[in-house]
Amino acid sequence: MKLLGLSLLFFSTCAFASPGPELQKAIEEGKKLYSQETFGGNGKTCNTCHVNGGVGPGKLPDGRAIPSLENAAAIFPRYNQRAKKIYTLTDQIHACVHGGLQGNPPALDSERLVDLVSYVTSLSQGKALDMDGKPN
Ligand code: HEC
Repeated sequence: MKLLGLSLLFFSTCAFASPGPELQKAIEEGKKLYSQETFGGNGKTCNTCHVNGGVGPGKLPDGRAIPSLENAAAIFPRYNQRAKKIYTLTDQIHACVHGGLQGNPPALDSERLVDLVSYVTSLSQGKALDMDGKPN
């Protein structure tokens, strides 16, 4: 009985919620933006560099490898050496739209930005929060 109780405790503390229908919809819309939207820029999408939806290592157009986005949401807020300021995940996504896509980032309160953040965050579901940590 004691063993059963312990294993129940184990499973209940290790189970993560699965997103409800509203959030699931935002994640799916975000996934489309991620691989299709150029934000009026140079024709690149997020998936150009963070390939395979951000799962597994990314690849810059010049062939250089970059980390996956698999724990991205768990390591923000994070100090950005180049910008010399603390970035939230949203700041990072804005920076990538400006820099990588050379486009116009969606407004902070826009549904599109919320969708994109929801998708990128979904990749880190269940990962321990590790602010200022290293990308996987
Ligand atoms: C031209 C290539 C390129 C494109 C396109 C691009 N990124 Fe990035 N991204 C990078 C590079 C390089 C980094 C590494 C860190 C940096 O520059 O600070 C990065 C870092 C990130 C990070 C932080 C990951 C980590 O753990 O270090 C996130 C999140 C991210 N990008 C999301 C996006 C999203 C969302 C899009 C689409 C809107 C996008 N990126 C488009 C090149 C790109």
